[in-house]
Amino acid sequence: MSNIIDVRISLEQQYQIVIGEHLQESFRSFCEERYSSDKVFVLVDEKVHSLHADRIENLVASFANPHFIKVPEGEASKSVAQWSSIVDEILAVGSERSTPLLAVGGGVTGDLGGFVASTVLRGIPLIHMPTSLLAMVDSSIGGKTGVNHGTGKNLIGAFYQPDAVFSDIAFLETLEQKEWVTGLAEILKYAAIRNPELFDELEELVHQPLTPKQRWAKVVEQSARIKTDIVEEDTLEAGTRAYLNFGHSFGHALEKVSGYGKLSHGEAVFVGMIAATYFSSELGHSVDDARFDPFISLYRQQMQQLPSDIDTLIEAMKTDKKIKNNILRLVLLNGWGSPYIYECTNYSKLEDAWEYALAQFN
Ligand SMILES: NC(=O)c1ccc[n+]([C@@H]2O[C@H](COP(=O)([O-])OP(=O)(O)OC[C@H]3O[C@@H](n4cnc5c(N)ncnc54)[C@H](O)[C@@H]3O)[C@@H](O)[C@H]2O)c1
Repeated sequence: MSNIIDVRISLEQQYQIVIGEHLQESFRSFCEERYSSDKVFVLVDEKVHSLHADRIENLVASFANPHFIKVPEGEASKSVAQWSSIVDEILAVGSERSTPLLAVGGGVTGDLGGFVASTVLRGIPLIHMPTSLLAMVDSSIGGKTGVNHGTGKNLIGAFYQPDAVFSDIAFLETLEQKEWVTGLAEILKYAAIRNPELFDELEELVHQPLTPKQRWAKVVEQSARIKTDIVEEDTLEAGTRAYLNFGHSFGHALEKVSGYGKLSHGEAVFVGMIAATYFSSELGHSVDDARFDPFISLYRQQMQQLPSDIDTLIEAMKTDKKIKNNILRLVLLNGWGSPYIYECTNYSKLEDAWEYALAQFN
């Protein structure tokens, strides 16, 4: 069984996100209808390949000539060097404008594969097959692709839309707990900014990853729909897409001050959402961060000691690359499901928000 989300980027550009379990058949018929090429490049996370080799090889069995390129797991693969070596390999093997590239893995493989597809021959067809929870609900949707630069994350890249996204939740069976928790933070973000009912659903499901599968598939679908809706409203990130950064200004500062790699993105965003919710309530909006309580223990049990120097954290927020004209813009909540942009000049309330959020963990 699968569910389909239609994504409309523009009148000419639309594609489908297919979400379900065991999507081999629908993937194959999509490829048969869409591509005449007998070749496909399969860019795959090495770890995901080792866990799901049969499933992945089966998928592309209808292509006479599949070419596998394995990418080492981890953020370090989102590099110019990795992009360049993959492009070398594709050009050496030979690609036509119509040869598709299938990216199978988490957000790292998706971002890297998307950027490769956007640049080879000025663009070859791209299909995303996200395998982490985060990639299914977030990174595979919206067309942002890219690699990191020595001076910062995601600084080189392009907006490039796929021909389709196939989110097969069967992949999630092998996902480690810390990766669940990372993906969960983004789903909680969707609950906060668009659909508070997701809080209730997650509260029931969260201690049993992937059980029952139907309900998890529904959560993935609802989340993907929210991201799709927001991206459709603002394809090139000029306005409402900023709401997707709820908790992220705080989270990025935490990641930076802790030292990259010490804290996962999801952990940092979770703490950030508590800070942003508390800040919103201090401004008089009716949101209570107790909504996050049922999930705190999941994060607490795997997080290391958080930084406690609030001045340094605020300084890090002020130097975030997303800051425009030196004004700190925070995504806050008027109420659950109702985000807005707050231009922050009240630094004492900001300090209070940090203090409150950090106290939940330290
Ligand atoms: N393009 C966007 O809009 C966007 C949005 C959010 C995040 N991102 C990017 O996404 C990346 C993070 O994504 P991620 O958390 O998926 O990271 P990731 O790709 O590194 O995957 C996390 C880990 O999970 C493993 N993994 C993936 N699928 C698995 C499976 N089915 N079973 C077992 N292990 C599996 C990977 O090998 C890796 O070790 C970051 O680089 C971030 O910048 C991009």
